[in-house]
Amino acid sequence: MTRHLITSALPYINGIKHLGNLIGSQLPADLFARYQRSRSNEVLFLCATDEHGTPAELAAAKAGKPVATYCNEMHGIQADIAKRFRLSFDHFGRSSSPENHQMTQYFARCLANAGLIREVSEQQIYSISDGRFLPDRYIEGTCPNCGYDKARGDQCEKCTKQLCPTDLIDPHSAISGSTDLELRKTKHLYLRQSALKYDLDAWIDSKKDWPILTTSIAKKWLHDGNGLQDRGITRDLDWGIPVKKGDADWPGMEGKVFYVWFDAPIEYIACAREWSIKTGGDWERWWRTDKGADDVHYTQFMGKDNVPFHTLSFPATILGSGEPWKMVDQLKSFNYLNYEGGQFSTSQERGVFMDQALGILPADYWRWWLLSHAPESSDSEFTWENFQQSVNKDLADVLGNFVSRITKFCRSKFGAVVPGGGSFGPAETALIAELTARVRTYEGFMDAIEVRKSAQELRAIWVAGNEYLQSAAPWSTFKENPDMAAVQVRFGLNLIRLYAVLSAPFIPDVSAAMLAAMRTEHADWPDDIEGALRMLDGGHVFTVPDVLFAKITDDQREEWQNRFRGTR
Ligand code: 2FM
Ligand code: ZN
Repeated sequence: MTRHLITSALPYINGIKHLGNLIGSQLPADLFARYQRSRSNEVLFLCATDEHGTPAELAAAKAGKPVATYCNEMHGIQADIAKRFRLSFDHFGRSSSPENHQMTQYFARCLANAGLIREVSEQQIYSISDGRFLPDRYIEGTCPNCGYDKARGDQCEKCTKQLCPTDLIDPHSAISGSTDLELRKTKHLYLRQSALKYDLDAWIDSKKDWPILTTSIAKKWLHDGNGLQDRGITRDLDWGIPVKKGDADWPGMEGKVFYVWFDAPIEYIACAREWSIKTGGDWERWWRTDKGADDVHYTQFMGKDNVPFHTLSFPATILGSGEPWKMVDQLKSFNYLNYEGGQFSTSQERGVFMDQALGILPADYWRWWLLSHAPESSDSEFTWENFQQSVNKDLADVLGNFVSRITKFCRSKFGAVVPGGGSFGPAETALIAELTARVRTYEGFMDAIEVRKSAQELRAIWVAGNEYLQSAAPWSTFKENPDMAAVQVRFGLNLIRLYAVLSAPFIPDVSAAMLAAMRTEHADWPDDIEGALRMLDGGHVFTVPDVLFAKITDDQREEWQNRFRGTR
């Protein structure tokens, strides 16, 4: 038995996430967690809301709520949606938790003691009417390069030129529009990542089985230009984790907070502490290599934009602390999911958001499409046509139809009871051999987190059952040879049970409905396919399930296409 620590990138608190966010980390992480549990491995699957930073403050201001209240509410909403998508977190925590405050300040102390933090005095833009320092991207003005009048202080969106806020013509606050800005002196802490670059380089080189997408991004940041740069880890904001050295004040840092990207990954650890408080579990067994975590296999899931923080900044925090923390073993990163020829956009209400998706169809429809089209080797695209086709073919025609045909046929000829008698013939033996090979291939892909290939193999497993049923044709056999038809039907009913177990990581609700229809509470992973296909014996009672997957009509597809087209 292996112990799997699994974390998904932490969704920002400000707003409900879209389907592209979901397939970029939480959903594949859930697939892997469910699969590892079903293989009888011990799993700790953690996620949390990422609650600090300016976007959280601004979203709260827009909602007219104090930021703590806003975060409480949004955490509840995100937790509820995650549950309805069947994301099986062992704990869904919060980066604003007391555990994360304590842990973040603790790491800062370790890093300071190791001489890895330096203080830097710098000039930053202060907005007098907003009463705050402004991060670069909250200063807007006219681009000196192309004349675009809404260029941001870090970059011009139109011509993509990288900018400094002081380059902008007519700069003003993006928060209030005020032009009453001045440069003020402020002091910040920097993490001396450059001092750790050889350690990080060697650590990344030791990861021979990481996806190219992951290592190429890490290597680029390590070696491009002047190499890995030191990183500011504090900000002049009100909302966040106060800058302290453990419990002690940090002279000169009063009123400042840690940068959100410093405290967010530390929440992976703090989340395990939150979980242990809730459940009585032993978090150190998962996170401290001196307390048993050396035999844990740790996998992180994230979108490609998060890779630098997980391959460099967070490992620098952990390595730099000099303490025996568990480091990540596998880092699975994803490209982007686009929407109907463009991008998902929150501000333009373009694309489908998680709550809207569940308002239209149950979670399993989305889970199947998203996972079977996961943007692994390149960006992928959601189109309604493709979604309709995939649901109607894979789920309704192949899987749903198989279950419906065999259960209904059995009920009409033998009653809702598994028919006994007879023994496997050549067709059953051939399918057992094919499924044995396919299931082992499926396991290989699932172990390697090859999400699309796993989905393809699972679909091929469903198709093989359909083809068997088509050529066995118990409805014809029944007339001349009812005993043989009984074997075929029994075999088919056992296939339903087998499919439920194999499909559960992808479509947990329908799998549970299939198991319930077969009156099987619990079913182990099929190490022995033949044995698994003999589990339901003659006399076992079952029920015919309701339609498992309804087809999407052209009218529905068109209506949804229009509804989610976007406002601008
Ligand atoms: O990109 C994002 O959505 C970030 N909130 C991910 C944070 S992951 C972790 F480090 F906390
Ligand atoms: Zn420009």
